[in-house]
Amino acid sequence: MNISIIGGGAWGTTLAQVLADNKNNVLIRDINLDFVNKINVWHFHPSFAVSIPESIKATSSLEEAVNYSDIIVLCVPTKVIRSVISQIDKLANSQKLYINVSKGIEPETGDLVSDIVKEVTSPNKIKGFVVLSGPSHAEELIFRKFTTLVSASTNKELAKMIQELFANNYLRVYTSTDVRGVEVGGAVKNAIAVVSGIASGLGLGENARAALICRGMKELVQIIETLGGKKETAYGLSGLGDLIVTASSMNSRNFKTGLKIGQGQSVVEAVNSSSQTVEGIRTINACYQIAKKYNLDLPIINTSYELVNNKIDLNGGVSMLLNRKLKPEN
Ligand SMILES: NC(=O)c1ccc[n+]([C@@H]2O[C@H](COP(=O)([O-])OP(=O)(O)OC[C@H]3O[C@@H](n4cnc5c(N)ncnc54)[C@H](O)[C@@H]3O)[C@@H](O)[C@H]2O)c1
Repeated sequence: MNISIIGGGAWGTTLAQVLADNKNNVLIRDINLDFVNKINVWHFHPSFAVSIPESIKATSSLEEAVNYSDIIVLCVPTKVIRSVISQIDKLANSQKLYINVSKGIEPETGDLVSDIVKEVTSPNKIKGFVVLSGPSHAEELIFRKFTTLVSASTNKELAKMIQELFANNYLRVYTSTDVRGVEVGGAVKNAIAVVSGIASGLGLGENARAALICRGMKELVQIIETLGGKKETAYGLSGLGDLIVTASSMNSRNFKTGLKIGQGQSVVEAVNSSSQTVEGIRTINACYQIAKKYNLDLPIINTSYELVNNKIDLNGGVSMLLNRKLKPEN
């Protein structure tokens, strides 16, 4: 089967290898010409020093990628996803099945990627929407290390089709119909990972990190349920699972960004020191807006919002959390 991947960075090219291993033809579109060359000429992963199958091709032309396949995998930073989907829709001359693997919430609107796809695509140019998410570092999957993901769609057949497309002897894929739960879980865990990194950078220790991850999980559950997802999804691969893999790992650029902030770098310095996408800061801003809109009590999100927007300093953040009124755990 032909498949187009939009965004050939760490995750997009890693998923291309999975699809190529499963005997599919993959065309990656990236705006970075150096990445396109690395893939086409050197058969190298653009983000890691690893060879990738020669069958994987890349292009800088969105039109070529859109016309290559009716299955479009979205793997660009969520800050550009609205404009990318709108360009795809204009170029499409057939119905497309969108598989979103990017993880974020639009801060200005509170929209998930499924909302944006609904808003931006023409009804006669869309076949369906699937989100594919779960605890997965590209740094491990590229070496074909055992990984699990969830394929979620309101259309059970599409969820199953994508499950079968990606699954193999090192990638196990489950299905779900809870699109919102899977999307929100995958996004919000990046916000908690930044906070966990800040705590580590401050040298607060493992007790504090465990507390932040655990209480952060409670906030993740509240946001999932508020946005229409299910609590059981929050405790699944795309919620708790992804939080575990992200919130204390040096493979997580969100955790690492938090770590640098905790060690005294400004937010801008910390974000700019990574050449790869850091979704967590935008997601903190999005979650803060959601908390305000729905009147949710999210102390960790609120404190991290104040911190990353320079309204308080690191010590102010710690005391803002510790000086809250004592209360029951549940
Ligand atoms: N890296 C991981 O392990 C991982 C795992 C699961 C999900 N994700 C999610 O996948 C998304 C992408 O992450 P990544 O790690 O691949 O980031 P990355 O920064 O490595 O890659 C993003 C790529 O998108 C490209 N790009 C930017 N704008 C584009 C456009 N308009 N059209 C085409 N390409 C464009 C960039 O050139 C870059 O190659 C993020 O939302 C991230 O949360 C990442």
